[in-house]
Amino acid sequence: MSEPLRLGLAGLGTVGTGIVRIVQENAACLAARAGRPIEIGAISARSRSRDRGVDLSRYAWEDDPVALARRDDIDLVIEVIGGEDGPAKATATAAINAGKHFVTANKAMLARHGQALAEAAEARGVALRFEAAVAGGIPVVKSLIEGLAANRITRVMGVMNGTCNYILTEMERTGAPYAQVLEAAQKLGYAEADPSFDVGGVDAAQKLALLAAAAFGTRVDYEGMTVEGIERVSIADIEHAAELGYRIKLLGVARLTPRGLETRTQPCLVPSTSPIGTLEGVTNMVVLEGDFAGRIVMSGPGAGEGPTASAIMGDVVDIARGLIFPPFGQPAASLCHAPRAGTSGEAAYYLRFALADRPGVLARIAAALGESGVSIDRMRQGAHPGTTAPVLIVTHRCGRPALDRAVSVIETLDVCHDVPVVLRIEDV
Ligand SMILES: NC(=O)c1ccc[n+]([C@@H]2O[C@H](COP(=O)([O-])OP(=O)(O)OC[C@H]3O[C@@H](n4cnc5c(N)ncnc54)[C@H](OP(=O)(O)O)[C@@H]3O)[C@@H](O)[C@H]2O)c1
Repeated sequence: MSEPLRLGLAGLGTVGTGIVRIVQENAACLAARAGRPIEIGAISARSRSRDRGVDLSRYAWEDDPVALARRDDIDLVIEVIGGEDGPAKATATAAINAGKHFVTANKAMLARHGQALAEAAEARGVALRFEAAVAGGIPVVKSLIEGLAANRITRVMGVMNGTCNYILTEMERTGAPYAQVLEAAQKLGYAEADPSFDVGGVDAAQKLALLAAAAFGTRVDYEGMTVEGIERVSIADIEHAAELGYRIKLLGVARLTPRGLETRTQPCLVPSTSPIGTLEGVTNMVVLEGDFAGRIVMSGPGAGEGPTASAIMGDVVDIARGLIFPPFGQPAASLCHAPRAGTSGEAAYYLRFALADRPGVLARIAAALGESGVSIDRMRQGAHPGTTAPVLIVTHRCGRPALDRAVSVIETLDVCHDVPVVLRIEDV
Protein backbone atom coordinates (compact mmCIF):
# COMPACT_ATOMS: atom_id res chain seq x y z
CA MET A 1 0.00 0.00 0.00
CA SER A 2 1.13 3.58 -0.61
CA GLU A 3 2.57 6.04 1.88
CA PRO A 4 0.16 7.12 4.61
CA LEU A 5 -1.52 10.49 4.53
CA ARG A 6 -0.42 12.16 7.77
CA LEU A 7 -2.87 14.47 9.50
CA GLY A 8 -2.20 17.38 11.82
CA LEU A 9 -5.26 17.94 13.99
CA ALA A 10 -5.73 21.42 15.44
CA GLY A 11 -8.53 21.34 18.01
CA LEU A 12 -9.61 18.44 20.23
CA GLY A 13 -13.07 19.56 21.29
CA THR A 14 -16.36 18.04 20.15
CA VAL A 15 -15.39 17.67 16.49
CA GLY A 16 -11.66 17.02 17.01
CA THR A 17 -12.37 14.13 19.39
CA GLY A 18 -14.78 12.68 16.85
CA ILE A 19 -12.07 12.79 14.20
CA VAL A 20 -9.69 10.90 16.47
CA ARG A 21 -12.38 8.26 17.02
CA ILE A 22 -13.02 7.79 13.30
CA VAL A 23 -9.30 7.54 12.48
CA GLN A 24 -8.83 4.97 15.25
CA GLU A 25 -12.03 2.94 14.83
CA ASN A 26 -12.40 3.00 11.05
CA ALA A 27 -8.73 2.83 10.05
CA ALA A 28 -9.20 -0.21 7.82
CA CYS A 29 -12.13 1.14 5.82
CA LEU A 30 -10.50 4.57 5.52
CA ALA A 31 -7.34 2.96 4.12
CA ALA A 32 -9.29 0.73 1.75
CA ARG A 33 -11.29 3.64 0.35
CA ALA A 34 -8.43 6.13 0.25
CA GLY A 35 -5.99 3.59 -1.19
CA ARG A 36 -3.51 4.50 1.53
CA PRO A 37 -3.49 4.57 5.32
CA ILE A 38 -4.72 7.75 7.00
CA GLU A 39 -2.90 8.50 10.22
CA ILE A 40 -2.86 11.29 12.76
CA GLY A 41 0.71 12.55 13.14
CA ALA A 42 0.38 15.48 15.49
CA ILE A 43 -2.30 17.23 17.51
CA SER A 44 -2.84 20.58 19.18
CA ALA A 45 -5.29 22.05 21.69
CA ARG A 46 -5.04 24.47 24.58
CA SER A 47 -4.87 21.92 27.36
CA ARG A 48 -2.48 19.00 26.96
CA SER A 49 -3.54 17.27 30.17
CA ARG A 50 -7.32 17.24 29.71
CA ASP A 51 -8.84 13.77 29.48
CA ARG A 52 -10.77 13.71 26.22
CA GLY A 53 -11.92 10.11 26.42
CA VAL A 54 -9.66 9.00 23.56
CA ASP A 55 -6.10 7.68 23.51
CA LEU A 56 -3.84 10.48 22.29
CA SER A 57 -0.58 9.02 23.62
CA ARG A 58 0.78 8.01 20.22
CA TYR A 59 0.52 11.47 18.63
CA ALA A 60 3.08 14.27 18.72
CA TRP A 61 1.87 17.32 20.62
CA GLU A 62 2.15 21.00 19.69
CA ASP A 63 1.01 23.81 21.99
CA ASP A 64 0.79 26.11 19.01
CA PRO A 65 -1.46 25.06 16.09
CA VAL A 66 0.61 27.21 13.73
CA ALA A 67 3.70 25.16 14.61
CA LEU A 68 1.61 22.04 13.99
CA ALA A 69 0.62 23.36 10.57
CA ARG A 70 4.26 23.87 9.64
CA ARG A 71 5.55 20.45 10.69
CA ASP A 72 7.43 18.59 7.97
CA ASP A 73 5.86 15.27 8.94
CA ILE A 74 2.29 16.50 8.27
CA ASP A 75 0.60 16.39 4.83
CA LEU A 76 -2.83 17.73 5.71
CA VAL A 77 -4.02 20.06 8.46
CA ILE A 78 -7.49 19.82 9.97
CA GLU A 79 -8.67 22.93 11.78
CA VAL A 80 -11.47 22.39 14.30
CA ILE A 81 -10.67 25.21 16.69
CA GLY A 82 -13.31 27.64 15.49
CA GLY A 83 -13.54 31.42 15.34
CA GLU A 84 -13.45 33.87 12.48
CA ASP A 85 -9.83 34.97 13.01
CA GLY A 86 -7.35 34.20 15.79
CA PRO A 87 -5.67 30.79 15.96
CA ALA A 88 -8.00 29.24 13.36
CA LYS A 89 -7.14 31.78 10.66
CA ALA A 90 -3.45 31.70 11.62
CA THR A 91 -3.49 27.90 11.32
CA ALA A 92 -5.22 28.02 7.93
CA THR A 93 -2.76 30.55 6.56
CA ALA A 94 0.28 28.70 7.94
CA ALA A 95 -0.93 25.35 6.57
CA ILE A 96 -1.63 26.66 3.09
CA ASN A 97 1.59 28.67 2.95
CA ALA A 98 3.48 25.56 3.99
CA GLY A 99 1.92 23.68 1.07
CA LYS A 100 -0.34 21.46 3.18
CA HIS A 101 -3.86 20.46 2.29
CA PHE A 102 -6.37 22.06 4.62
CA VAL A 103 -9.76 20.83 5.86
CA THR A 104 -11.99 22.83 8.18
CA ALA A 105 -15.45 22.89 9.77
CA ASN A 106 -15.19 26.63 10.34
CA LYS A 107 -18.02 28.49 8.57
CA ALA A 108 -17.34 31.71 10.48
CA MET A 109 -13.79 31.91 9.13
CA LEU A 110 -14.75 30.96 5.57
CA ALA A 111 -17.73 33.34 5.46
CA ARG A 112 -15.23 36.17 6.04
CA HIS A 113 -12.01 34.87 4.51
CA GLY A 114 -13.17 32.13 2.14
CA GLN A 115 -12.22 33.97 -1.03
CA ALA A 116 -8.69 34.87 0.14
CA LEU A 117 -8.05 31.40 1.54
CA ALA A 118 -9.35 29.74 -1.63
CA GLU A 119 -7.07 31.91 -3.77
CA ALA A 120 -4.11 31.10 -1.52
CA ALA A 121 -4.84 27.35 -1.62
CA GLU A 122 -5.17 27.33 -5.39
CA ALA A 123 -1.94 29.32 -5.79
CA ARG A 124 -0.12 26.70 -3.67
CA GLY A 125 -1.80 23.78 -5.46
CA VAL A 126 -3.31 22.42 -2.24
CA ALA A 127 -6.86 21.46 -1.36
CA LEU A 128 -9.12 23.51 0.89
CA ARG A 129 -12.24 21.58 1.80
CA PHE A 130 -15.13 22.55 4.10
CA GLU A 131 -17.95 20.00 3.87
CA ALA A 132 -18.30 19.99 7.67
CA ALA A 133 -18.87 23.75 7.75
CA VAL A 134 -22.33 23.40 6.19
CA ALA A 135 -25.13 21.21 7.55
CA GLY A 136 -22.84 18.88 9.52
CA GLY A 137 -23.14 15.32 8.30
CA ILE A 138 -25.16 16.09 5.14
CA PRO A 139 -22.80 16.02 2.12
CA VAL A 140 -24.27 19.15 0.59
CA VAL A 141 -21.09 20.90 -0.62
CA LYS A 142 -19.99 17.73 -2.36
CA SER A 143 -23.40 17.36 -3.97
CA LEU A 144 -23.30 20.90 -5.32
CA ILE A 145 -19.70 20.93 -6.49
CA GLU A 146 -19.49 17.39 -7.81
CA GLY A 147 -22.82 15.62 -8.26
CA LEU A 148 -24.65 18.65 -9.64
CA ALA A 149 -21.68 20.15 -11.51
CA ALA A 150 -23.52 19.86 -14.83
CA ASN A 151 -26.45 21.96 -13.64
CA ARG A 152 -27.21 25.63 -13.49
CA ILE A 153 -28.37 25.85 -9.89
CA THR A 154 -31.60 27.81 -9.65
CA ARG A 155 -32.07 27.86 -5.89
CA VAL A 156 -30.47 26.60 -2.70
CA MET A 157 -32.48 26.64 0.47
CA GLY A 158 -32.86 24.87 3.71
CA VAL A 159 -33.04 24.69 7.43
CA MET A 160 -29.41 24.79 8.45
CA ASN A 161 -29.52 25.56 12.14
CA GLY A 162 -30.67 22.73 14.36
CA THR A 163 -30.98 24.93 17.45
CA CYS A 164 -33.54 27.17 15.77
CA ASN A 165 -35.53 24.29 14.38
CA TYR A 166 -35.53 22.62 17.77
CA ILE A 167 -36.80 25.79 19.46
CA LEU A 168 -39.52 26.37 16.85
CA THR A 169 -40.75 22.77 16.94
CA GLU A 170 -40.72 22.75 20.74
CA MET A 171 -42.71 25.99 20.86
CA GLU A 172 -45.23 24.36 18.56
CA ARG A 173 -45.33 21.09 20.51
CA THR A 174 -45.57 22.55 24.00
CA GLY A 175 -47.25 25.91 23.40
CA ALA A 176 -44.50 27.50 25.50
CA PRO A 177 -43.10 30.92 24.53
CA TYR A 178 -39.71 31.48 22.90
CA ALA A 179 -37.77 32.54 26.03
CA GLN A 180 -38.92 29.51 28.02
CA VAL A 181 -38.09 27.03 25.24
CA LEU A 182 -34.69 28.65 24.69
CA GLU A 183 -33.85 28.24 28.37
CA ALA A 184 -34.84 24.57 28.27
CA ALA A 185 -32.77 24.08 25.10
CA GLN A 186 -29.74 25.59 26.85
CA LYS A 187 -30.17 23.18 29.76
CA LEU A 188 -30.34 20.25 27.34
CA GLY A 189 -27.21 21.44 25.48
CA TYR A 190 -29.11 22.19 22.26
CA ALA A 191 -28.36 25.91 22.56
CA GLU A 192 -25.17 27.69 23.62
CA ALA A 193 -24.99 29.83 26.77
CA ASP A 194 -24.73 32.76 24.34
CA PRO A 195 -27.28 31.65 21.74
CA SER A 196 -27.18 34.82 19.62
CA PHE A 197 -25.22 33.29 16.74
CA ASP A 198 -27.80 30.54 16.34
CA VAL A 199 -31.10 32.24 17.13
CA GLY A 200 -30.04 35.48 15.41
CA GLY A 201 -29.61 33.63 12.10
CA VAL A 202 -25.86 34.30 11.84
CA ASP A 203 -24.80 30.64 11.88
CA ALA A 204 -27.30 29.69 9.17
CA ALA A 205 -26.35 32.76 7.13
CA GLN A 206 -22.65 31.87 7.22
CA LYS A 207 -23.45 28.42 5.90
CA LEU A 208 -25.72 29.81 3.19
CA ALA A 209 -23.02 32.29 2.12
CA LEU A 210 -20.69 29.35 1.44
CA LEU A 211 -23.34 27.34 -0.38
CA ALA A 212 -24.29 30.32 -2.54
CA ALA A 213 -20.69 30.71 -3.71
CA ALA A 214 -20.49 27.01 -4.60
CA ALA A 215 -23.92 27.05 -6.25
CA PHE A 216 -23.70 30.21 -8.35
CA GLY A 217 -19.99 30.73 -8.95
CA THR A 218 -20.09 33.97 -6.98
CA ARG A 219 -17.67 35.29 -4.39
CA VAL A 220 -18.56 34.58 -0.78
CA ASP A 221 -20.62 37.61 0.22
CA TYR A 222 -21.69 37.24 3.81
CA GLU A 223 -21.99 41.02 4.23
CA GLY A 224 -24.58 41.16 1.44
CA MET A 225 -27.01 38.81 3.15
CA THR A 226 -30.30 39.66 4.80
CA VAL A 227 -30.02 38.05 8.23
CA GLU A 228 -33.00 37.71 10.53
CA GLY A 229 -33.38 35.28 13.42
CA ILE A 230 -36.21 33.64 15.31
CA GLU A 231 -36.18 35.86 18.41
CA ARG A 232 -39.42 37.59 17.49
CA VAL A 233 -41.37 34.50 16.41
CA SER A 234 -44.33 34.26 18.77
CA ILE A 235 -46.36 31.28 19.82
CA ALA A 236 -49.41 33.13 18.46
CA ASP A 237 -47.93 33.16 14.96
CA ILE A 238 -46.88 29.52 15.19
CA GLU A 239 -50.45 28.60 16.14
CA HIS A 240 -52.12 30.84 13.56
CA ALA A 241 -49.76 29.55 10.87
CA ALA A 242 -50.70 25.99 11.80
CA GLU A 243 -54.42 26.83 11.49
CA LEU A 244 -53.71 28.09 7.97
CA GLY A 245 -51.74 24.93 7.04
CA TYR A 246 -48.21 26.26 7.53
CA ARG A 247 -45.25 25.88 9.88
CA ILE A 248 -42.66 28.53 10.66
CA LYS A 249 -39.05 27.63 9.87
CA LEU A 250 -35.83 29.61 9.92
CA LEU A 251 -35.14 29.29 6.22
CA GLY A 252 -31.99 30.15 4.34
CA VAL A 253 -32.67 30.88 0.67
CA ALA A 254 -30.17 31.76 -2.06
CA ARG A 255 -31.09 32.55 -5.67
CA LEU A 256 -29.28 34.21 -8.53
CA THR A 257 -31.94 36.47 -10.02
CA PRO A 258 -31.81 38.94 -12.92
CA ARG A 259 -31.63 41.64 -10.21
CA GLY A 260 -28.60 39.98 -8.60
CA LEU A 261 -27.79 37.54 -5.82
CA GLU A 262 -30.58 37.11 -3.30
CA THR A 263 -29.37 35.53 -0.05
CA ARG A 264 -31.46 35.68 3.07
CA THR A 265 -31.98 33.88 6.32
CA GLN A 266 -35.35 34.63 7.91
CA PRO A 267 -38.34 32.97 9.57
CA CYS A 268 -40.76 31.95 6.82
CA LEU A 269 -44.00 30.05 6.57
CA VAL A 270 -43.80 26.81 4.60
CA PRO A 271 -46.66 24.41 3.85
CA SER A 272 -46.90 21.85 6.68
CA THR A 273 -46.98 19.02 4.17
CA SER A 274 -43.82 20.08 2.29
CA PRO A 275 -40.55 18.24 3.09
CA ILE A 276 -39.23 21.27 4.99
CA GLY A 277 -42.61 21.62 6.70
CA THR A 278 -42.29 18.15 8.18
CA LEU A 279 -38.83 18.74 9.68
CA GLU A 280 -38.64 18.18 13.43
CA GLY A 281 -36.11 18.95 16.15
CA VAL A 282 -32.42 19.54 15.47
CA THR A 283 -32.45 17.86 12.06
CA ASN A 284 -31.26 19.93 9.09
CA MET A 285 -32.62 19.87 5.55
CA VAL A 286 -31.09 21.30 2.40
CA VAL A 287 -32.89 21.57 -0.93
CA LEU A 288 -30.83 22.01 -4.10
CA GLU A 289 -32.53 22.80 -7.40
CA GLY A 290 -30.70 22.24 -10.67
CA ASP A 291 -32.01 23.01 -14.15
CA PHE A 292 -31.46 19.42 -15.34
CA ALA A 293 -31.39 17.38 -12.12
CA GLY A 294 -34.51 18.96 -10.66
CA ARG A 295 -35.00 19.14 -6.93
CA ILE A 296 -32.71 17.24 -4.56
CA VAL A 297 -33.74 17.10 -0.90
CA MET A 298 -31.28 16.01 1.75
CA SER A 299 -31.84 15.82 5.47
CA GLY A 300 -29.88 14.61 8.44
CA PRO A 301 -27.96 15.66 11.51
CA GLY A 302 -26.57 19.15 11.05
CA ALA A 303 -24.13 19.10 13.95
CA GLY A 304 -22.62 16.94 16.67
CA GLU A 305 -19.42 15.00 17.10
CA GLY A 306 -20.08 12.07 14.79
CA PRO A 307 -21.77 13.81 11.84
CA THR A 308 -19.33 16.72 11.74
CA ALA A 309 -16.26 14.49 12.08
CA SER A 310 -17.72 12.25 9.36
CA ALA A 311 -17.92 15.21 6.98
CA ILE A 312 -14.33 16.23 7.78
CA MET A 313 -13.07 12.72 7.15
CA GLY A 314 -15.01 12.47 3.89
CA ASP A 315 -12.99 15.44 2.68
CA VAL A 316 -9.78 13.87 3.97
CA VAL A 317 -10.46 10.64 2.08
CA ASP A 318 -11.07 12.61 -1.12
CA ILE A 319 -7.72 14.35 -0.74
CA ALA A 320 -6.01 11.04 0.00
CA ARG A 321 -7.51 9.77 -3.26
CA GLY A 322 -5.88 12.71 -5.04
CA LEU A 323 -9.12 14.61 -5.64
CA ILE A 324 -7.90 18.19 -5.59
CA PHE A 325 -10.10 20.86 -7.12
CA PRO A 326 -10.91 24.50 -6.40
CA PRO A 327 -12.66 24.93 -3.02
CA PHE A 328 -15.81 26.48 -4.52
CA GLY A 329 -15.89 24.22 -7.58
CA GLN A 330 -14.29 26.64 -10.03
CA PRO A 331 -11.13 28.73 -9.85
CA ALA A 332 -11.45 31.35 -7.12
CA ALA A 333 -10.35 34.09 -9.53
CA SER A 334 -13.32 33.23 -11.77
CA LEU A 335 -15.91 33.62 -8.99
CA CYS A 336 -17.87 36.72 -9.92
CA HIS A 337 -18.84 39.76 -7.86
CA ALA A 338 -22.61 39.34 -8.25
CA PRO A 339 -24.62 42.47 -7.57
CA ARG A 340 -26.84 42.20 -4.50
CA ALA A 341 -30.52 41.78 -5.35
CA GLY A 342 -31.54 44.23 -2.63
CA THR A 343 -35.09 43.08 -2.02
CA SER A 344 -36.37 39.52 -2.13
CA GLY A 345 -38.44 38.31 -5.09
CA GLU A 346 -42.23 38.22 -5.05
CA ALA A 347 -44.02 35.92 -2.61
CA ALA A 348 -47.25 35.49 -0.73
CA TYR A 349 -47.15 36.88 2.81
CA TYR A 350 -48.74 36.10 6.15
CA LEU A 351 -49.84 39.22 7.99
CA ARG A 352 -51.15 39.50 11.54
CA PHE A 353 -52.74 42.69 12.73
CA ALA A 354 -54.16 43.56 16.14
CA LEU A 355 -57.18 45.63 15.12
CA ALA A 356 -60.01 47.42 16.83
CA ASP A 357 -63.05 45.16 16.75
CA ARG A 358 -65.60 47.45 15.14
CA PRO A 359 -67.41 47.69 11.82
CA GLY A 360 -65.51 48.95 8.78
CA VAL A 361 -62.02 48.18 10.07
CA LEU A 362 -61.34 45.25 7.74
CA ALA A 363 -62.44 47.34 4.76
CA ARG A 364 -59.84 49.99 5.69
CA ILE A 365 -57.09 47.35 5.91
CA ALA A 366 -58.12 45.84 2.56
CA ALA A 367 -58.17 49.33 1.03
CA ALA A 368 -54.67 50.17 2.33
CA LEU A 369 -53.32 46.91 0.92
CA GLY A 370 -55.19 47.42 -2.35
CA GLU A 371 -53.81 50.92 -2.81
CA SER A 372 -50.28 49.42 -2.82
CA GLY A 373 -51.33 46.71 -5.27
CA VAL A 374 -51.42 43.95 -2.64
CA SER A 375 -54.41 41.65 -2.98
CA ILE A 376 -55.81 39.36 -0.32
CA ASP A 377 -55.99 35.61 -0.80
CA ARG A 378 -57.43 34.70 2.61
CA MET A 379 -58.49 36.67 5.64
CA ARG A 380 -59.69 35.45 9.03
CA GLN A 381 -60.35 36.97 12.39
CA GLY A 382 -59.06 35.08 15.43
CA ALA A 383 -60.88 34.56 18.70
CA HIS A 384 -60.41 37.36 21.22
CA PRO A 385 -61.74 38.33 24.61
CA GLY A 386 -61.51 42.15 24.43
CA THR A 387 -61.88 45.00 21.99
CA THR A 388 -58.76 44.14 19.98
CA ALA A 389 -59.08 41.34 17.44
CA PRO A 390 -56.23 39.40 15.82
CA VAL A 391 -56.71 39.51 12.06
CA LEU A 392 -54.78 37.13 9.84
CA ILE A 393 -54.26 37.78 6.16
CA VAL A 394 -52.59 35.67 3.51
CA THR A 395 -51.80 37.83 0.50
CA HIS A 396 -51.45 36.83 -3.11
CA ARG A 397 -47.90 37.06 -4.43
CA CYS A 398 -46.57 40.59 -4.19
CA GLY A 399 -43.32 42.49 -3.95
CA ARG A 400 -41.97 43.28 -0.50
CA PRO A 401 -41.61 47.04 -1.13
CA ALA A 402 -45.31 47.34 -2.04
CA LEU A 403 -46.29 45.33 1.02
CA ASP A 404 -44.05 47.40 3.30
CA ARG A 405 -45.67 50.58 1.95
CA ALA A 406 -49.13 49.24 2.76
CA VAL A 407 -48.13 47.98 6.22
CA SER A 408 -46.55 51.31 7.13
CA VAL A 409 -49.82 53.03 6.22
CA ILE A 410 -51.84 50.52 8.27
CA GLU A 411 -49.54 51.02 11.26
CA THR A 412 -50.53 54.69 11.41
CA LEU A 413 -54.28 53.95 11.48
CA ASP A 414 -55.98 54.49 14.86
CA VAL A 415 -57.61 51.04 14.53
CA CYS A 416 -54.21 49.28 14.46
CA HIS A 417 -53.33 48.47 18.08
CA ASP A 418 -49.93 46.79 17.75
CA VAL A 419 -46.96 46.42 15.41
CA PRO A 420 -48.11 44.21 12.51
CA VAL A 421 -46.38 40.88 11.94
CA VAL A 422 -45.18 40.20 8.37
CA LEU A 423 -43.82 36.78 7.46
CA ARG A 424 -42.92 35.55 4.01
CA ILE A 425 -44.55 32.35 2.72
CA GLU A 426 -41.81 30.58 0.82
CA ASP A 427 -42.52 28.42 -2.24
CA VAL A 428 -40.81 25.22 -1.21
N1 LIG B 1 -19.74 21.04 17.41
C1 LIG B 1 -20.42 20.87 16.28
O1 LIG B 1 -21.42 20.15 16.25
C2 LIG B 1 -19.99 21.54 15.03
C3 LIG B 1 -20.75 21.35 13.84
C4 LIG B 1 -20.32 21.94 12.66
C5 LIG B 1 -19.19 22.74 12.66
N2 LIG B 1 -18.50 22.93 13.82
C6 LIG B 1 -17.32 23.79 13.77
O2 LIG B 1 -16.18 23.03 14.17
C7 LIG B 1 -15.25 23.84 14.84
C8 LIG B 1 -14.94 23.24 16.19
O3 LIG B 1 -16.12 23.11 16.94
P1 LIG B 1 -16.17 22.29 18.32
O4 LIG B 1 -17.60 22.21 18.69
O5 LIG B 1 -15.41 21.03 18.20
O6 LIG B 1 -15.44 23.32 19.29
P2 LIG B 1 -14.91 23.05 20.77
O7 LIG B 1 -15.54 21.84 21.35
O8 LIG B 1 -15.03 24.33 21.48
O9 LIG B 1 -13.36 22.72 20.54
C9 LIG B 1 -12.43 23.69 20.18
C10 LIG B 1 -11.05 23.12 20.34
O10 LIG B 1 -10.11 24.09 19.93
C11 LIG B 1 -9.05 24.11 20.87
N3 LIG B 1 -8.43 25.42 20.88
C12 LIG B 1 -8.98 26.61 21.18
N4 LIG B 1 -8.06 27.59 21.09
C13 LIG B 1 -6.93 26.98 20.69
C14 LIG B 1 -5.62 27.44 20.45
N5 LIG B 1 -5.30 28.73 20.56
N6 LIG B 1 -4.69 26.54 20.09
C15 LIG B 1 -4.99 25.24 19.96
N7 LIG B 1 -6.21 24.74 20.19
C16 LIG B 1 -7.15 25.61 20.56
C17 LIG B 1 -9.69 23.79 22.20
O11 LIG B 1 -8.72 23.32 23.10
P3 LIG B 1 -9.09 22.82 24.59
O12 LIG B 1 -9.99 21.63 24.41
O13 LIG B 1 -7.80 22.45 25.19
O14 LIG B 1 -9.76 23.98 25.26
C18 LIG B 1 -10.70 22.73 21.78
O15 LIG B 1 -10.09 21.46 21.80
C19 LIG B 1 -15.89 25.24 14.88
O16 LIG B 1 -15.44 25.99 13.79
C20 LIG B 1 -17.37 24.95 14.73
O17 LIG B 1 -18.10 26.02 14.18
C21 LIG B 1 -18.87 22.36 14.98
